[in-house]
Amino acid sequence: MMRIAINGMGRIGRLLFRRLVDSKEVELVAVNDIMDTDNLAYLLKYDSVYGTFAGNIVHQPGAIVVNGKVVKAFQQDQPAALPWKDLKVDVVLECSGRFSSRAAAEQHIKAGARKVLLSTTGSTDIPLLVYGFNQHALTKEETIISPGGCMTNCSTHILYILNSIGIKSVQCNVLHSYTSRQELVDAPHKQFRRGRAAAESIIPVEIDLHHSLERLMPVLKDKIAAISIRVPVANGALADFTIQMQQETSREEVNRLFATAAQNDYKGILEYTEDPLVSLDIKGNTHSCVIDGTLTSVVGNHVKVIAWFDNEYGFTTRMIDWLNLMG
Ligand SMILES: NC(=O)c1ccc[n+]([C@@H]2O[C@H](COP(=O)([O-])OP(=O)(O)OC[C@H]3O[C@@H](n4cnc5c(N)ncnc54)[C@H](OP(=O)(O)O)[C@@H]3O)[C@@H](O)[C@H]2O)c1
Repeated sequence: MMRIAINGMGRIGRLLFRRLVDSKEVELVAVNDIMDTDNLAYLLKYDSVYGTFAGNIVHQPGAIVVNGKVVKAFQQDQPAALPWKDLKVDVVLECSGRFSSRAAAEQHIKAGARKVLLSTTGSTDIPLLVYGFNQHALTKEETIISPGGCMTNCSTHILYILNSIGIKSVQCNVLHSYTSRQELVDAPHKQFRRGRAAAESIIPVEIDLHHSLERLMPVLKDKIAAISIRVPVANGALADFTIQMQQETSREEVNRLFATAAQNDYKGILEYTEDPLVSLDIKGNTHSCVIDGTLTSVVGNHVKVIAWFDNEYGFTTRMIDWLNLMG
């Protein structure tokens, strides 16, 4: 069984812990975060989005114990200091968001891990691979995998599928729950708006989604603009695409493309629904994107497509898909 470690036990790291700790496919051997282990055990047990863990979680010096299974817990702020060699770690899930360049992620390799799976889009010297799109481009030699972020995983499939009709340009706006890269009360921040109280306002933030999409689909270079608007909910996202097509199309044609994709090549990755969803309904959904066919609209060659995703659960499902593929 592949031996796994998680670095960075925030929203993504803890959800992966919950989902992998009793896995029959991989062995979760260790975690690392700068927080105290008793605090980590508490946050693993009680989760404001996904509820209380169904099982027994306690901590002991240097470890988290789940239903009797011991997972080592470290508190190093530099991956190079982690004992991955002694623990024979095959794959590190790098979920701190702090080590996403090749040089930084390589610290895990120097510490003795065989491979690193980032939880975001890494620097441009790491190949960007989106599960369900180009995962087969992964070579055995590549030690660091950049699987894109939740927004990239949602958008790639939508644009690729629509480009079968022919895309001229794309405006994308991702309405996204607040994240730890914002502040709870007003505070200084490099991006001023990210420093405003997250639960009090609708907050536009800068993102680099268009760069990731252009890397994945060079044919769309200089044709995509994207922003994200953080909204006062703790979970869930809605991606709103306004696309200028190369030719006129219809609502029926667009919805048929997505409904067919969902049942065939994109099964498990993309879902198509005509249910009148709201963001809470998406919690726990395992797909990278859920096309809301009721909201598709077409005016001439302008198409609007709206897709939901659970930014945490859907994305961690893809990371688990990656682990299975690597295994
Ligand atoms: N949340 C999402 O919806 C989502 C979805 C897809 C991808 N991602 C990506 O996943 C990454 C993590 O996101 P997140 O939302 O889980 O963030 P998060 O909740 O802030 O988690 C990051 C964790 O890493 C810890 N950390 C900080 N410095 C560290 C170090 N030197 N070594 C080890 N751990 C360290 C943080 O501690 P402190 O809190 O004390 O700093 C925190 O516990 C980001 O790159 C993000 O873009 C997030």
